[in-house]
This record gives sequence, structure tokens and C-alpha cells, in this order.
Amino acid sequence: MKDITVLAIETSCDETSVAVVRNGREVLANTISTQIPLHEQYGGVVPEIASRMHVEKINLVIKEALAEANVTLDDIDVVGVTYGPGLVGALLVGVMAAKSIAFAKNKPLVGVHHIEGHIAANYIAHPELEPPFLCLVVSGGHTHLVHVKDYTTYEIIGRTRDDAAGEAYDKVARAIGLTYPGGPKIDKLAKEGNKDAIKFPRAMQDGSYDFSFSGLKSAVLNYINGAKMKGEEINPADVAAAFQSSVTDVLVGKTMALAEEKGITKIALAGGVAANKGLREAMEKACKEQGRTLYYPDLILCTDNAAMIGCAAYYEYLKGTRAGMDLNAVPNLPLGQR
Ligand code: KG4
Ligand code: ZN
Repeated sequence: MKDITVLAIETSCDETSVAVVRNGREVLANTISTQIPLHEQYGGVVPEIASRMHVEKINLVIKEALAEANVTLDDIDVVGVTYGPGLVGALLVGVMAAKSIAFAKNKPLVGVHHIEGHIAANYIAHPELEPPFLCLVVSGGHTHLVHVKDYTTYEIIGRTRDDAAGEAYDKVARAIGLTYPGGPKIDKLAKEGNKDAIKFPRAMQDGSYDFSFSGLKSAVLNYINGAKMKGEEINPADVAAAFQSSVTDVLVGKTMALAEEKGITKIALAGGVAANKGLREAMEKACKEQGRTLYYPDLILCTDNAAMIGCAAYYEYLKGTRAGMDLNAVPNLPLGQR
């Protein structure tokens, strides 16, 4: 079969990323221009600033990725782009760039769901991995338990009813004085703390596969405020460790229960929170105990990047998915629907 080279673009949030991916799993370039330092001072992503920065950077990042992969636009077979979910103004920049290239060079265009991309990051990291498997997608905007039935068919079995796991991390981090994004900082701080020093709630223990993190976030904020009112010092490392332990217990517990119920032996982690060391360790331990195999991507493939979009675009392309010049950004695009 002829090689298929995908040029992929990801601009759904605060990373301008362009990748060149061959045959789905071979990454020739994965250039990421992050805006994190810019948003840090505001405590979170400012949508308007994100869109403007994408506009400023996109052409440069495309050039860099092509140069790194040592290809030109004429060598590209397919253009893939994230068209949702995400910030509408941010998504639009990538969608417009992808449409322009596809139109100018007369190449097929494939729209990719951002979460489908996060799941696909596992294919790049593990060349032997094939569906079906169970994927826990945990990012700044999503917390989903997904049955990946084949490369383009997904069944969402559990989802968060309020905050996403990463969102809870970022909000709790802010409350203990850590800057955005708080996830990696809590992860680091948690190692120095005692997870049993404070008992935070484990939500949604009702047998469902849904999640809820806003109650946990409130419990942490109440704990901090309560200590303040009593004039007591809190130990941020203990708060981080106890919070992380609550999040991890729930994520691991529900994922393993679903794997058991469905008889699924392969479990994958995806999304920014999949970079969490505490989660990886707890999941690793549970999988080992139950004889299941755990997959997760390298750190750089966990957070937003275009290589994962290139991989997902490749499998969508093989299935026959094509987008027209009317492709638009869809900020609340549901997974598995077009
Ligand atoms: O997937 P991602 O880059 O963007 C979205 O699609 O949302 O995820 C970003 C999220 C942020 O909330 C960030 O705090 C969290 O992932 N994150 C982590 C870690 N690294 C990133 N959360 C916990 N532990 C980490 N090590
Ligand atoms: Zn993401």
C-alpha cells in the first residue's frame, strides 16, 4: 500500500500545533507552540488571547513542522484538523488554515474530534495497540470513559456531570496558590504530602460510571477556608496529596469496574491528566492485580498536540471520512457523531 502522509493541525485551546504523520503512527514532526506562559498570569486560558496567538503563530508552526519532517505541501496526501470541541475562535484558526491548504493544493480534508485525537495518541505510543479497548479520557475539558470499539467507533459509557478532572486540578491548584496549569504542580506537590492527613469525599459511588468533581473541589475550598477562619495554617502538600488520592480512587475504581463488567483486558489513558504520575501508578497497580494491560502515551502526547490528530485523521481517512470547504468549528462537538 502507498504511504499516506497527513499534515495535521490542532488549535482547540492554548497550543498551536502542527504535525506530519506517516501511515497513522510514524511521527515525522510534531511542532508545538504553547501559549501557557501568556495565560498563566490570568490563572487560566483567555479565549480571545488564545485565538490571536493562534493567528500569529499558525503559519510559522506549519513551516517549522514541514521543515522538520523534510517534506513540502506537495508530499502531503491528507490534511487533518481538529474541528471540535474547544474554544470556537481558537478552533477556527486551525480549521481555516487546513481548509486553505486543502483547497490550494487540492488535497482531501478530514475533520477530527479532539478527544478522538487524545485516544489515538495511544496508537503512536504503542505500535501494537489495536481496538477494542477501554479508554479513560481525562483532560482540562473532558472526563469520559469510552469503549473504543474500532478505530472510528466509540461508545461513551461514563462522563463527568460537572467539572472535568483537569478543571478540578486547575481550580484546586489555584486555591493553594499554584499557577495555571495546576495539574502538573499538584502532581509534584502531592509526592511530598500525606494523602491520609485529610479525608476528602469520593463522589458518585452509586454504581454508575459517571463522574462528579465539583463536590470534591468545594470540599477542598471549604477545608482551606475553614482553616483560614480558625487562623490555622494548611499544609499545601497534604491538601494536594489528599485531593489527588480522591480523584485517582474514583477514576481507577470506575475504570476497573467497567473493564470487569465488559470483560475488557486492555485499558488506555488519554488527555492531559493521563500525564499524572499518581494516576498512572494507581492504574498500573490495579491492572497488574487484575491481569489487564495498561497503555498510556508519553507525556508530550498526553497534552494537546497535532501528532495525535494526524493519527486519528489517518484512520478516519481510511474509513472514507472527508470534509468539504464548508467545514466549520463546532465548539461542543459530541464524540462519534458527524
Ligand atoms: O488535554 P489537555 O492538554 O487539554 C485539554 O484538552 O483540556 O489537558 C490539560 C489539562 C489541564 O487541566 C492540566 O492541569 C492537566 O491537563 N494536566 C495534569 C497533569 N498534566 C496536565 N493534571 C494532573 N496531573 C498532571 N501531571
Ligand atoms: Zn486536549
